Amino acid sequence: MNQRALSILRLLNDGQFQSGVSLARKLSCKRADISNALKNIDSYGIEIVKIRGQGYCWINPIVYLNKDSILRNSSIYPRKLDIALFDTLDSTNTLLLNNLEREVADNNCVPVVATEYQTKGRGRAGRAWHSGFGDSLTFSFGWWFDQGVSALSGLSLLIGIAVIRVLRSLSINCVRLKWPNDILFENKKLAGILIELRGENLGPSHAVIGIGINFKLSEVIKSSINKEIIDLSSISDVLFDRNQILSALLTEFLNILPIFRDYGFAYFKNEWISYHAFEGQVVSLILPNGSVVVGTVDGVIEDGSICLLTSSGRNSYKVGDISICLNNL
Ligand code: BTN
Repeated sequence: MNQRALSILRLLNDGQFQSGVSLARKLSCKRADISNALKNIDSYGIEIVKIRGQGYCWINPIVYLNKDSILRNSSIYPRKLDIALFDTLDSTNTLLLNNLEREVADNNCVPVVATEYQTKGRGRAGRAWHSGFGDSLTFSFGWWFDQGVSALSGLSLLIGIAVIRVLRSLSINCVRLKWPNDILFENKKLAGILIELRGENLGPSHAVIGIGINFKLSEVIKSSINKEIIDLSSISDVLFDRNQILSALLTEFLNILPIFRDYGFAYFKNEWISYHAFEGQVVSLILPNGSVVVGTVDGVIEDGSICLLTSSGRNSYKVGDISICLNNL
């Protein structure tokens, strides 16, 4: 999205009509520049109407991400967080991965990057993550471990627990996990987690933990996603503020990660299983080499692997994608 469009959105965020002349005056440009800048704005999930004689109005304005609001709502000592907010970025994970070494050298606090819009949002297994402008909570944070990468295999499941805890604390009760860490509501995807690890096998190591939660997706964005998804606005009558949720999530991460460091995923295993949408169900597991295993889900183990009861016995698997096996329903 071009810089002028971003500036216009900030001006139109009060939901009032503003004439092209007045917008142009405020942005020191020509009237034609305003209409040019807004040409493809609907492809970002933004609805702006233009009425002759009245001007432009953003009919689904957002509550922007705001540092003070995030910190105000959190019980975390503000200096522990280094929050950077953007209107648009390629990907919050990519930015943090590129900057992590510098962050380590610079300070001891937790780097957090959040953005209203990602041009190259990334999902698990090389997939893309789509969202519109301000219609999702898309953020990443960095975390350092003394342990090596090999000791962190349960981390992605742990982060799923933290997200479930926070959503349930906001009375979004029926959210479940799908191994390893998709957040589902009625088997539709509400949120996803992408964890990227860097470092030595024996430590130290660092993780970039990226989370995307669908808030209020527009039809344009929904139609660009070819899987069953859902957003918070369709689940709850409460109009959540993304700042409030980000704040609650960061508080929970800072609570849960030191426990994980000391006790590992084993400490959380049973809680994770209690949230699993597919526990006891027959699933197909697609392995990275394309082969498919069918079995009944029988929990997870200490390293976060899923256990399946298959025709060849009880086996555990570290990676892959599971889905309910329709043949066995
Ligand atoms: C998945 O379910 O495939 C994981 C999706 C993770 C999306 C988030 S949005 C914020 C962060 N930045 C990215 O590019 N991806 C993650």
